[in-house]
Amino acid sequence: MQTDLRGRDLIGDLDFSKEEVETVLDVAWDLKRKRALGESHAYLRDKVLAMLFFFSSTRTRGSFEAGMAQLGGHAAFIESRTTQIAHGDTETEMGEIFGRYFDGIAIRHVDWGTGNRYLNLVAKSSREPVLNMQCEIYHPFQCLADLMTIMEKKGRDLRRRKVVVSWAYASSYLKPISVPQSLILQLPRFGMDVVLAHPPEFKLMPEIMEQAQEQARKYNAGFEVVDDMEAAFKDADVVYAKSWGPLLTTNDPTEGKAIQDKYKHWITDARKVALAKPDTIYMHPLPADRDVEVTSEVMDGPNSVVFDQAENRLHAQKAVMALTMR
Ligand code: CP
Repeated sequence: MQTDLRGRDLIGDLDFSKEEVETVLDVAWDLKRKRALGESHAYLRDKVLAMLFFFSSTRTRGSFEAGMAQLGGHAAFIESRTTQIAHGDTETEMGEIFGRYFDGIAIRHVDWGTGNRYLNLVAKSSREPVLNMQCEIYHPFQCLADLMTIMEKKGRDLRRRKVVVSWAYASSYLKPISVPQSLILQLPRFGMDVVLAHPPEFKLMPEIMEQAQEQARKYNAGFEVVDDMEAAFKDADVVYAKSWGPLLTTNDPTEGKAIQDKYKHWITDARKVALAKPDTIYMHPLPADRDVEVTSEVMDGPNSVVFDQAENRLHAQKAVMALTMR
């Protein structure tokens, strides 16, 4: 167990070693148990987290804000458009100043080619930890909650378990690629055999693919890329199917939507889920386009764990905050 996480940033999924992620999960389960029993766990009394949002959120905002209150502290919700960022406050000002007011700075900034750089520059100027509430490359807190959920459903030893990380069709907007990227980086470290499925235009970043393959080699896990959703689902223990934009192909929303519309048949439905193992779990970080990306029959059905998964955002985030901000 690696317990010295005080003051550490969490921006990319590999910022914490595997052992450190195991510590986070141990603490998360302890905090989950304490909350279920109504036991006080005010490890961050008098501490304040800044939550700076450049993009909308339901789960991330709710779980970070509730989590800080349950840990005895407070979270300040700040939307970028209500700050002076547009009038000259650079990453240096935000890191220097918020690092002096707050005990941690959590940021969501998913703009392509901008968000991750922003977080790293703020972190460079901040004396307090910077936590990534999602950038265009990574969604590490989602991934910690996902890993926690998979272990709860499939057991702590995930070696040789097959997880499908699949693209799915959505019509609402071009969703970031950070969730699949975080999954393919983190899950091989726990021995899961990853099958990544997407149409040709929906590739992930080459450097992330290389790092994921390197993790798979290091931890003796499988890593395969296919362009057939149904073939990918076959005998899967975990089906994680969500939409993402063709961002490596085009950044233009109209062109991107036209590409997406070619693949409307990439919907998660009961027929496809039946190709997986009978006890497979269906996962999605939400929000999902119901009956477009996934049928309501699957989302509300017996294989779906999406609400347990959303709950675990709370516990995983509290664990990281308690370990880094104390
Ligand atoms: N999964 C997730 O990050 O949800 P929100 O966008 O609602 O925060």
